[in-house]
Amino acid sequence: MEERLRALAQTAGAAAAQAQNLEELDEVRVRFLGRKGELTQILRSMKDVPPAERPRLGQLANEIRDELERKLAERTEVPKRRLQAQQLEKERLDITLPGVRPALGHKHPLTWVLEEIEDIFLRMGFDVVEEPEVEYDYYNFEALNIPKDHPARDMQDTFYITDEILLRTHTSPFQARTLERMAPEVPVRVICPGRCYRRDPADATHSPMFYQTEVLAVDKNISFAQLKGTLTTFAREMFGKNREVRFRPSFFPFTEPSAEVDISCLVCGGKGCSLCKGTGWLEILGSGMVHPRELEIAGYDPSRVSGFAVGMGPDRIAMLKYGIDDIRLFYEDDLRFLHQF
Ligand code: DAH
Repeated sequence: MEERLRALAQTAGAAAAQAQNLEELDEVRVRFLGRKGELTQILRSMKDVPPAERPRLGQLANEIRDELERKLAERTEVPKRRLQAQQLEKERLDITLPGVRPALGHKHPLTWVLEEIEDIFLRMGFDVVEEPEVEYDYYNFEALNIPKDHPARDMQDTFYITDEILLRTHTSPFQARTLERMAPEVPVRVICPGRCYRRDPADATHSPMFYQTEVLAVDKNISFAQLKGTLTTFAREMFGKNREVRFRPSFFPFTEPSAEVDISCLVCGGKGCSLCKGTGWLEILGSGMVHPRELEIAGYDPSRVSGFAVGMGPDRIAMLKYGIDDIRLFYEDDLRFLHQF
């Protein structure tokens, strides 16, 4: 047994010394120290050795095993480190390379304009509300002093869902809803932005879906002067301090008197050009004093309170502000267009 052990120590030592690389070193380990390895086998047959011999031979076997393990560990250390270094080199990241910037979106130009309108009126003390796009004929027309046979219905080609339900053709039904909800409380100072729908074929200035923002103020002693002051302030905040503002008599069934509001042309400043069609003026909204009939229908006493109402088209305002000549661009989501903002 002792001889076998010493011979084995020799062969194993030589094999460990000769191994060329990590695989060969591992082979040596398996061959001598593995579960079926030569040394392991000798250690297992220790039970056949006479008891008196066991401690000495056991110790010898242990020493041989420890020595072999030490040698193997020593020889593996250098190639292991080298392998690790190679791996680190291969997986190296150059963190100084410029990265790829994530594409950040931005708000839609119409959203900017809608928010700017809201902002200006919020600063003047108005609240913002939203109202349904699917609306009753009653609020869209009748409560606004437009009965079923009124010729003004022809001005707004309507998408009807049933005889009594439709897609709102303007944000004006918000007036009727707000007054009905508030009556007889004053003051009322609210605006309502939102989508509207009309059976118009799409072209450069028409879209079957478009935006409006409606303004409503009702209180004791509201006069046309306050309407003029409010809208002049709005126009100059929106289009610049030097804008001239003009009120032109007009007609709407729910306001009396009514006025359309023009601003001096943004391109020529009033001299006349192709944008203003030579007039020097650009129309931006409709407005007027709330019709006494509308106040009455909602439950107000028109001899005690009065108000003004305004309806504007944010699409048109955005087109004028940014020099866009086709409303359809707002609704096509063409990134080549949107990236320009
Ligand atoms: N609702 C009208 C339309 O869509 C616009 C309008 C005009 C609204 C005058 C108003 C107003 O509040 O006073 O054509």
